Amino acid sequence: MKTSFLAVQFAVLALALPEPEGHEFRAPGPFDSRSPCPGLNALANHNWLRHDGKNLDWPMINTAAQDAYGFGPGMYKPFVDMVFQFNISTTNTPNETFNLFDLARHDTIEVDGSLTRNDIYFGDDVHFDASVFAPVAQDLGLNQNLSAHSFVTTETAALATKNRLALAKRVNPAFNASASQHESEYGTTALYLYTLLDEDSGTTPKPWVKAFLGEDRIAYSEGYSKGSSVKTQEQLDAMLDALLSLATAQLYLNVTALGAADGASTIECWQVKSPFAVATDAGTPGSAIAQLGNIANMSYLAIPPNFDGGLHRALAKQWVYMTSGLAYTTVPGNNSAGAYMTGGEFGLIFAADTADVSTEGHRTQYHSNTQTIGIQLPTLNGETPAHDVLHSGPCVTGEVSGLRSLV
Ligand SMILES: *[C@@H]1O[C@H](CO)[C@@H](O)[C@H](O)[C@H]1NC(C)=O
Ligand SMILES: *[C@@H]1O[C@H](CO)[C@@H](O)[C@H](O)[C@H]1NC(C)=O
Ligand SMILES: *[C@@H]1O[C@H](CO)[C@@H](O)[C@H](O)[C@H]1NC(C)=O
Ligand SMILES: *[C@@H]1O[C@H](CO)[C@@H](O)[C@H](O)[C@H]1NC(C)=O
Ligand SMILES: *[C@@H]1O[C@H](CO)[C@@H](O)[C@H](O)[C@H]1NC(C)=O
Ligand SMILES: *[C@@H]1O[C@H](CO)[C@@H](O)[C@H](O)[C@H]1NC(C)=O
Ligand SMILES: *[C@@H]1O[C@H](CO)[C@@H](O)[C@H](O)[C@H]1NC(C)=O
Repeated sequence: MKTSFLAVQFAVLALALPEPEGHEFRAPGPFDSRSPCPGLNALANHNWLRHDGKNLDWPMINTAAQDAYGFGPGMYKPFVDMVFQFNISTTNTPNETFNLFDLARHDTIEVDGSLTRNDIYFGDDVHFDASVFAPVAQDLGLNQNLSAHSFVTTETAALATKNRLALAKRVNPAFNASASQHESEYGTTALYLYTLLDEDSGTTPKPWVKAFLGEDRIAYSEGYSKGSSVKTQEQLDAMLDALLSLATAQLYLNVTALGAADGASTIECWQVKSPFAVATDAGTPGSAIAQLGNIANMSYLAIPPNFDGGLHRALAKQWVYMTSGLAYTTVPGNNSAGAYMTGGEFGLIFAADTADVSTEGHRTQYHSNTQTIGIQLPTLNGETPAHDVLHSGPCVTGEVSGLRSLV
């Protein structure tokens, strides 16, 4: 077909674009100094900075960032100043110059959870690590055949960073989960999105991101242009704010609930109005925690195998947590509203169909060949937690599994 023929032609042309003279990509040699930062490495790989990456000073960085990326003057100044503040330069004039490799000193400038480098816990936080980058590239959609007109959105970038941090945290027992570290990782995400912003489309093309993060290369061959407008700190900050608010979008607990309407019990999916927060308590810092209110007392219940609870009303407004087993709950007069509940991770329900609101109540059968262990937690003063009803019928998997994607 004609259009696809043209598309192929376009792709071939796009790949054939020349690199600017004197700034062709040249991979580092064994004695060149490189950092954990793709943006600075790319400047050296393209000879915007000395190719050996050594004895760099602030004016060199300042000039290169303007010439290659279109940043306003002074953009990298606070970052370069940190090198001297932290006293991590290994050159002969450590108050004026540094080598790119010096930036790999952990927990000063370099932090855990990089999109392209492994954590220092695994021994090397400076070289590109394909196993670290692979899931990130997957999330960013860089693995398909890329059209020159496919873009990494802010939402996608935020999610990819969030997933990378969650993975790093799971596999690295020494992962540093301090808030400022998280902010650093979203800061580097903002930096690549903004550095690679295409002036014409106002978005960040995937092929440019792939070259930059995957090869420490500026995607001249794929059409990269720094554009004509000057990139500013204010816009970079705005990008970071957008990423952080996407990453911390509030998450709410959804539970299957036994409610009541017109004197009859109903089965509904509720969203509890107190959102998850990040815990700071000793023992569980960084965990997600939601406050579910006060309880009156607690009882531990062992229900026999293959047991039919018969039709009954909730004795009190209460949380019921099934640690094991399988329960099937129905309400009279509506055969299509049955809810299966599995004990364990998603075993929490709320029962609110007390005698004052429900004439007949509900029926729960325990379809398990083993005992079902339940914990009953009536709320203090018979309170029902503030909630929205998402829909009638039980919550479905996608409504209870949201915690699995958390950092
Ligand atoms: C900086 O580091 C060098 C070498 O490790 C050391 O000799 C010097 O005293 C340090 N200076 C400061 C201000 O910490
Ligand atoms: C670095 O230290 C030298 C010797 O102490 C001093 O002469 C020079 O002004 C310092 N440079 C900066 C940028 O502080
Ligand atoms: C990418 O393009 C190549 C060459 O046209 C083709 O062989 C390959 O199957 C494509 N891969 C995907 C994932 O579409
Ligand atoms: C974690 O990172 C913070 C901020 O960079 C730093 O102050 C702190 O010392 C680090 N903690 C550990 C245990 O490395
Ligand atoms: C537990 O609390 C509920 C609700 O307040 C109440 O109805 C029940 O009697 C209490 N049970 C015991 C054993 O105190
Ligand atoms: C019966 O339950 C289904 C599923 O929960 C619900 O969509 C429907 O409205 C209910 N019908 C009545 C009459 O309550
Ligand atoms: C609750 O439901 C909303 C909407 O379906 C969903 O986005 C969120 O992830 C759910 N929460 C949890 C903890 O699964």
